[in-house]
Amino acid sequence: MLTGKNILLGISGGIAAYKTPHLVRLLKKSGADVQVLATESALQFVSELTLATVSGRPVLTDIFTADGNGHDNARTMHITLGEWADAFVIAPTTANTLARLAAGLCDDMLSLCFLTLRPGKPVLIAPAMDGHMYDSPSVQRNLSVLAAQGCRIMEPESGSLASGQCGLGRMPEPESIIEKLMQLLEPPAESPLKGRTMIVTAGPTREKLDDVRFLSNYSSGKMGFAIAADAARRGANVHLVTGPVNLQTPPGVERIDVESAAEMLEAARPFFDNCDLFIGAAAVADYRPETPVEGKIKKNDAEMEIRLVRNPDILATFATSRKLGQLAVGFALETAGGIDYARKKLVEKQLDLVAFNVYDGRTSGFEVDTNALTLLGRDGNITELPLLSKEKAAGKLIDAIEPLLQRR
Ligand code: CTP
Repeated sequence: MLTGKNILLGISGGIAAYKTPHLVRLLKKSGADVQVLATESALQFVSELTLATVSGRPVLTDIFTADGNGHDNARTMHITLGEWADAFVIAPTTANTLARLAAGLCDDMLSLCFLTLRPGKPVLIAPAMDGHMYDSPSVQRNLSVLAAQGCRIMEPESGSLASGQCGLGRMPEPESIIEKLMQLLEPPAESPLKGRTMIVTAGPTREKLDDVRFLSNYSSGKMGFAIAADAARRGANVHLVTGPVNLQTPPGVERIDVESAAEMLEAARPFFDNCDLFIGAAAVADYRPETPVEGKIKKNDAEMEIRLVRNPDILATFATSRKLGQLAVGFALETAGGIDYARKKLVEKQLDLVAFNVYDGRTSGFEVDTNALTLLGRDGNITELPLLSKEKAAGKLIDAIEPLLQRR
């Protein structure tokens, strides 16, 4: 139930807006008070009078005409609403509204209240649009920006779309949105991670050849950042040591930027003694050029050979020197059929858990937003997870780590 909860419902202009009067009715029936913030385009799809009637409050759209609604303090109403709300649901969220929220624009009541909402209050975003639009890099980038800020994104459902085509893009049914909202508003069961300290390594490392060139890999850092974000949400103190990536720091996470494997080890080492958990999600270069050249290597007619030497293994350094009670978790990226290699890494690096993922260059591995993990435990337990967004995969990995922490 949502008894006594104050909900801001943002509605943007897509065909799925026709479902929102029903959503408002269900929210009210669950005991919530609902303030509708509709964009002008939303009101092309659903009537203001309908929304005002079912919500029992005037619909707010424009910033400057938001008076005349019987509000005492119309000029600061966006601030009052930001304080008043227990949660902000935006359904449907169009590509345009996503872009405006990701950019921090605030030219209507919906986008303005998104900025005044008090920190920590859940934001639930239900994108709905044509499947090709949803898959476009711009929409996916904006979704990642909002997810990194802590917004919860409800994946659109598959089915027939307004275009007549079939595909991903439909807004989830109002019942599912309410169920998700209830979960977000429920006081979370206390996680065993609460108050624990952890180190997460993420991203690639760069190993210098000379002052302008390096060896590296395609890691985007998304998996490590998703893990750090999830653990911080569960109350852990997270030290995120990352190679060069183009990602925002998740809320509540302490981030340390490094370049090389050696720097990553030195940045993580001070936290070794006092951490409860180390998760190695970085794609650390196993080798580095033996002697990086000062300045720039100049070409000549001869072939060139570069001698590479082994880098320290950061995860193994931690795992093999840790104190009783500290957990070590790693990743093993292999090509198909490589589960035995993953098992070997679990044993050789003395890990408690290894997340095996298959590199296929499309759905799993580097630079993509999804991952299919198989979790191998030291106790022989194997959990095969389906293909999930990296955020969801991170949540499942942390779910699997929690009982291990509890046992200690
Ligand atoms: N790792 C690390 N330091 C290294 C190398 C790897 O901390 N120098 C960590 C990674 O963060 C990851 C795991 O170890 O958790 C991966 O192990 P690794 O044996 O390096 O895997 P691959 O690089 O895939 O090894 P290989 O190329 O031998 O398959």
